[in-house]
Parts: sequence; C-alpha cells; structure tokens
Amino acid sequence: MSRSELIDVAPPAELAFLVAVDTGREDGWTAPDSLAELANLSETAGATVVGMEWQNRRHADPNWYIGKGKAEDLVAAKNETGFDLLIADDELSPTQQKALEGLLKVKVIDRSRLILDIFAQHARTHEGRLQVELAQLEYQLPRLTRLWTHLSRTGGGIGTRGPGESQLETDRRLIRERIKKMKERVDQVGQARATAARGRERGLVPTVGIVGYTNAGKSTLLNSLVGSTVALAEDKLFATLDPTSRQVRLGDGQSAIMTDTVGFIHKLPHQLVDAFRATLEEVNRADVLVEVVDASDAHFAEHRATVQAVLNELGAGDKPRLVAFNKADLLPPNDDGVGHPGEVVDGAVFLSALTGAGLDDLRVAIADLLMSLWVEIDVHLPYAAGEILSRIRERGSVDTEYGERDVHLRGRLAPGLAGEVVGAAERWAAEQRDGAALPDGAARPDEAALPG
Ligand code: GTP
Repeated sequence: MSRSELIDVAPPAELAFLVAVDTGREDGWTAPDSLAELANLSETAGATVVGMEWQNRRHADPNWYIGKGKAEDLVAAKNETGFDLLIADDELSPTQQKALEGLLKVKVIDRSRLILDIFAQHARTHEGRLQVELAQLEYQLPRLTRLWTHLSRTGGGIGTRGPGESQLETDRRLIRERIKKMKERVDQVGQARATAARGRERGLVPTVGIVGYTNAGKSTLLNSLVGSTVALAEDKLFATLDPTSRQVRLGDGQSAIMTDTVGFIHKLPHQLVDAFRATLEEVNRADVLVEVVDASDAHFAEHRATVQAVLNELGAGDKPRLVAFNKADLLPPNDDGVGHPGEVVDGAVFLSALTGAGLDDLRVAIADLLMSLWVEIDVHLPYAAGEILSRIRERGSVDTEYGERDVHLRGRLAPGLAGEVVGAAERWAAEQRDGAALPDGAARPDEAALPG
C-alpha cells in the first residue's frame, strides 16, 4: 500500500442513535422535527445515524432523561444497530449522562455538546476559535462542579475524599482560570470590533446585519451580493474589515456594509450565545437586519421563531428588519418566475442567492428601509462646521440655505448623522445665546469663523 493510500483511510464514522423527549412544548417543534434536525447536525459532525427514538413525557426523567424502561429498551436497539454513540436532544445533567453510559456502555453526549463540536470543527478565524473554546469551557465547568456536588452528597465517604477531591478542585480551578483568560481575550476582540465599527460609523456607510437560521444561505447571499457588483478589492479602507463584513452596493447607488453572523439554531447552547457576544454585537450595531429564511424548508416558520427568540435575547428583536425568502429556485415558480412560500410577510423579498434571481429587488428594498429610517431635521449650523456639512451632503437629502451667519439645513438624514448634527446645532445655538449676552464690544468666540 502506498503512503498516500494510507493517509486517505478515514476513521470509521461513529454510529449514532438519537433520543428525544416530547414534553408538548408550544414552540411549534415536535420531537420528530427536532430529531430530524439533530440527525442533520450529527451527520454534519461526521456521525452516521442508525436510529432514533422519542418518548412523550411531561418532564425529562431526572435520572435517565427518557424513562428507565425506555432506556433499557435501548440495549436491544444497540445490539441490533451496533450504535457506539447516543445523542440526547436536550442538555443532559451529569447524572443522566452517567446513568445512560453505565447502562449502554457507549459514549453519551447531548445536543449542546454536539453543536459545540461542530462549531469547533468549523471555527477558522482566531476570533471564532477563541469564542468556541470559551463556550466549551463554560459547558464543562458546571459539569465538573455538579459531578463533585453529586459525589459529595450521595456517594460521599471512603474513596471520595483525598486525591480525587483535590484533583477535581484543581481541574475546576484550572478551567476557571482559563475561562477568565479567554474572556479577557474575547473582550479584547470585542473592543477591536467596536473600534472598527466606530471607524465605519464615521465613514457613514450604513451597516446591515445578516441573520438567519443555520443553512438559510446567509454566506451565499453575501457572496453573491458582493460578486455581482464590482467587488471593492482595491478599496484599502475595507481591507482590514473582518472577512465576514463586505461592502455591497444598494439600489440607489449608495453602499452598505453587510455583515454575516453566526447561524442560529433551535436550542442554541446558551454558552455559545454568551461566548459569541462579541461577534453577535454586530447585530446590535447594525442599522437594519436582513433575515434570510430558507423558504424551501417545511419548517421555516419554526426557524423564524427561533431567530426571533435569539434576536430578543441579544436585545435586537425590534430592530428594523427585512425578510429575504431565499432558495426560491427550489419552489414552484409564480407569475414573476420566482417561487414564493405560503406565508406572506410585509415587504419581504423572494430571491435565490444561488441563481441571483431577486438580488436587485433586495438591494432596492434595503436602500428603501435605510431611507425610511432617516430623520427630519431643521437646524442651523455655523460655517465652521465644514466637515459635518460635507458629510451631510454625502448621506442626506437636505436643502441648504446659506445665511449671513450660518447655514440653514432642512431635510432628512441618516439617524446617526442626524444625532450628531442636532448636537452640533444645539451647541451652536447655545454659543449664539451666550454671545448675545456678552456686553457690547466683547468679541464672540466664533467671530473668527464667520464669513466676511
Ligand atoms: P450557516 O453557516 O450554517 O449559518 O449557513 P448559511 O446560512 O451561511 O448558509 P450557506 O450560505 O452556507 O448555504 C447553505 C446551503 O444552502 C449551501 O449548500 C448553499 O449552496 C445552499 N444555498 C444557499 N442559497 C441557495 C439558493 O438560493 N438556492 C439553493 N438551491 N441553494 C442555496
């Protein structure tokens, strides 16, 4: 056998069996739906799914997750299918995990662990790796702690004191120290992002956050929006942006910076949401959001509900948003040649990131949404405010009247800039008042700046 043949031999895929508990939640998800998604996740992580089971119960069993009888049935399923990995659809307590491992003699993991694993496999950037490691440590820590609490309470006594205890204490301390370090590093990343964002705000390019359920087509959409315009590869200003942020041309000749974010998923481990806050902050910073929905997925309504829940958690639930129903090429075409899902959402755009159909509609819709957020202003600014005046010309629709002392501006401006302009106008008005209050003959502070 040649060397290259040896290298090509991949380790055999783990054979996974999936279990879920259906507690009759009212979030639209049934156990079979949730299991189907868990099967996708398992295969993404490299396992082969050989079977699945679920049980209707009011609550998960505190000791076994599924009921003890059902757990015992899994022994037969194991003999039949040969599974060597059991994956539970909800987060398991250490007690549940140990009980199932003891009974089945296979590795037992849960949905959170699986998702963390997939993130770890996919993290490419330094920032991504940091955040995943932090989330993994956060996931591990309470498990070590709870394991210890459990032993000290019930197991206790001979054999549980001494080196075992100190080892566990040491592990916990090491993990805590590492979490602290990782948090500091993630904070630094967050600060770097905030600084970059402030720079962009000064550049006055509006920002659009792309959000959506995992696999909805967010990255494909961003790539095709960039690819079908002249990509600004030469534009040095954006060369330093995070690779997931790109400048995209909109419908009215303006451009926006669009940022792709982490995909959301049903039961997204909260450790991930916490650890990825620096990245997800981009969602909060964005002027508007584009929610990409896979319209060809039968469960897109549940996906939308999950996206809404995660956005609420991030504090961005009410941010102005445009819904982009993607993968319209997979739906039967309508009169306009683009497939539509059954649901109607105000102002939604139907498109295919893959074929490019509907992309121009999206550009126009984003520009309109941004424009709808513009704020009415009617203010006076001094001639000395030249820098701000030139920015107003770039990002506003304003009538300018040049007076003797100052410039009168009336019209509409992007919200961030409007705030800045109103602030400057108030300062100018205050200066005027103070100036007027000065005794005759005293120089006004702004006198030098006034025209002839
Ligand atoms: P996450 O990284 O998991 O959040 O996924 P994502 O939302 O970034 O999705 P991505 O762009 O990776 O696309 C997921 C899959 O959908 C890929 O296989 C794409 O080729 C496919 N896809 C994206 N857009 C379309 C589309 O308009 N039509 C079709 N048929 N497939 C699409």
